[in-house]
Amino acid sequence: MQKGKNVVYVCMVADMIHPGHINIINEAVKLGQVTVGLLTDVAVASYKRLPCMNYEQRKTVVENIKGVQCVLPQETLDYTDNLRNIKPDYVVHGDDWQTGIQASVRHKVIEVLKEWGGKLVEIPYTKGISSTILNEVIKEIGTTPDIRLKSLRRLIDAKPFIRVLEVHNGLTGLVVENLRVMVEGIPREFDCMWSSSLTDSTARGKPDIETVDISSRMITVNDIFEVTTKPLIFDCDTGGRPELFGFKVRSLERLGVSAVVIEDKIGLKQNSLFGTEVKQTQDTIEDFCVKIQAGKKARITDAFMIISRIESLILDKGIKDASRRAQSYIEAGSDAIMIHSRREEPDEIFDFLDQFNKLQNQVPIVVVPTSYNKVFEDDLAKAGAKIIIYANHLLRAAYPAMVQVAKSILMNGRSYDSEKQCISIKEILNLIPVK
Ligand code: SPV
Ligand code: MG
Repeated sequence: MQKGKNVVYVCMVADMIHPGHINIINEAVKLGQVTVGLLTDVAVASYKRLPCMNYEQRKTVVENIKGVQCVLPQETLDYTDNLRNIKPDYVVHGDDWQTGIQASVRHKVIEVLKEWGGKLVEIPYTKGISSTILNEVIKEIGTTPDIRLKSLRRLIDAKPFIRVLEVHNGLTGLVVENLRVMVEGIPREFDCMWSSSLTDSTARGKPDIETVDISSRMITVNDIFEVTTKPLIFDCDTGGRPELFGFKVRSLERLGVSAVVIEDKIGLKQNSLFGTEVKQTQDTIEDFCVKIQAGKKARITDAFMIISRIESLILDKGIKDASRRAQSYIEAGSDAIMIHSRREEPDEIFDFLDQFNKLQNQVPIVVVPTSYNKVFEDDLAKAGAKIIIYANHLLRAAYPAMVQVAKSILMNGRSYDSEKQCISIKEILNLIPVK
């Protein structure tokens, strides 16, 4: 940095540069030499959706903006560490952060700057354009298979854990895509979709025993992909014969699916939550590793994940067997491990996670808290779970509601009485607007 010039710090995401950004930088340049603190993907993911461009791509853009002297990573939404390191004379920001989730960040900036007499300068917000508006437009345009596929790995790197919900058609896909709630001032969304064999089969009136072939399953995924941009993890049951599993991997990867899960069972597959009530046979470690390797060999890019699902707890084989399998499946090349349980308490999952954390060559771990549903996702994440799947809830919610309305029409000989259980015609017409 040149001597004698004031140091000016500007923090941004800079995903889609617009005149608002340029205005802030131009104003900052008037005050001195500009350093941009570029929020990392981790920092952005802590309060909103991942940027379209990754950190390195955004850095390349910002470095080339006239007036920017230097670009540093800002690892958290909180400026403190960077500010204390470079002790800027000024921080420049738009004046649109005085309320909402950024208000406390702003307050802290003012406090920290006081330590060396620095000042916050706020520039009037540029009206008519914002990253939020641009993001909405991009979401409407959609995504490509490649961008969608890679987004799961990016999320895994950027977030403490990935929250996944089951989808089985375009409409349920839209729920995951668009639903957003505020929890303690921070927006919360589902990160990813789960194509469940149970709900995709049930929605077609078929049992969950691999009766729905991969082509039909891909039609569902395609319907979902037409109207969403978030990544999807595909439940591929047993994966079938190793020779055939490779073809499934290719087809799903081409579609833009991010990960495929195969479970270590053989013979007639039954739903895991039946447990030992029905005959279920676990594969040998050796044979299952051959299937994992066939999948790895078939995939085109490293971004596509092969996830191995361990059924030892489902089949009462114990934690030791589950851990032994986890280590072998990791060595065979699994990109993540799914552990399933049908107990009502999460104890065996926590015991497994404890053992898993001691294994070599860690990979992300996936859990499915369907039966042990009182556990909070934060506690699972603290114990090491990286991907948390709510595997069947949208279909389970829809079915009783449909039966109730159908019953009411039959009982009353008219539909008036069931109206209060339905959304209005006006609402359903406007649910999916004509673009
Ligand atoms: C599914 O959703 O189809 C699953 C999870 O495989 S479970 O139904 O719990 O086995
Ligand atoms: Mg399944």
